[in-house]
Amino acid sequence: MEKLIYASLKSIGAYIPSKIVTNDDLSKIVDTSDEWITKRTGIKERRFAEKNEATSDLATKAAKLAIARANLKPSDIDAIIVATISPDYFCMPSTACVVAHNLGIIGKPAFDISAACSGFIYLIYLAKSLIESRAHKNILVIGAEKLSSITDMQDRSTCILFGDGAGAVVIGTTDDKNLSILDVNCASNGQYQDFLMTPGCGSRNPTNDKVLQERLQFIKMKGNEIFKLAVKTLTQDVVEILEKNALSKDSIDFFIPHQANLRIISAVGEALGFPKEKIALTVQKYGNTSAASIPMAINELYEEGRIKQGSKLLLDAFGGGLTWGSAILAFNGQ
Ligand code: UT7
Repeated sequence: MEKLIYASLKSIGAYIPSKIVTNDDLSKIVDTSDEWITKRTGIKERRFAEKNEATSDLATKAAKLAIARANLKPSDIDAIIVATISPDYFCMPSTACVVAHNLGIIGKPAFDISAACSGFIYLIYLAKSLIESRAHKNILVIGAEKLSSITDMQDRSTCILFGDGAGAVVIGTTDDKNLSILDVNCASNGQYQDFLMTPGCGSRNPTNDKVLQERLQFIKMKGNEIFKLAVKTLTQDVVEILEKNALSKDSIDFFIPHQANLRIISAVGEALGFPKEKIALTVQKYGNTSAASIPMAINELYEEGRIKQGSKLLLDAFGGGLTWGSAILAFNGQ
């Protein structure tokens, strides 16, 4: 009988743009204040990419680090998949194709997926199947966003929330189940599609003067409605995946939720009973970076020396679509 192989997280890398935008900077553009933003979101600052930097540029930098930390060369990568809602180009080519080109990878599958803030977990779900079905051996998985390019800087209810950045991992193989991606759960509910959307410039509302005048190319969000659903869904998601795998929360070394709002993270963390030191927190520095937020948070823990080979991570995300997902996995890098 053929030996079982498991998908495994071999490395992590991230790229954080250097330009810091503080709450005080934003209060010069829209009617807001550091006090309001801090109290309602926990965000103190976020990073914006430069004008001439696209999502693929951020993604490529994160990817180079992840490939090097996996002790691989770009030519060892069998597939490149990118989760983003702020691709370089509206329809084509995919950001993954541009990243593959930047890395000198030719002749391998490269494509994007769209699952908003849950995008990174959706990619883990996909990469696990591709590895365990033996389709590929080393998959480059990237969550990358230049949300500043789709954020309405005249809308105070959204422009204070979002930031730019990228995180990347290499998913490879292991024969040790304890070092594998144990389980991934992904779900959606399109009933709430209008809670978080970019209403314009797609086939529903093609680009025209009216769409642009109404600024429908930018993110629109029903923040309060999303907030309530996010707390409930993120909590339930974790309870379900732990139960399904007969694991207790004490077996988890780090709970790494999507970084949208400190109040959401605290409410979910408290409901689940995770101690503060086990909860990843980067939203205060980077804001909400959608598909990039979870790999950026993993990278931060890694660079602080807190994640080691064998550390058990619980990922949890919620976002536009609506989409949500969770994953339990061991870190299997050096
Ligand atoms: O990443 C994917 C998922 N996304 C999320 O999870 C985001 C979830 N939502 C949130 O994080 C919060 O709903 C927000 C931070 C977006 C907003 O906080 P909130 O406590 O839900 O505020 P609100 O939208 O109910 O607005 C309260 C008030 C309103 O004024 P009135 O109508 O009460 O007079 C807003 O106009 O705050 C006002 N407001 C602001 N005031 C100062 C909204 N944005 C701002 C602002 N500065 N930037």
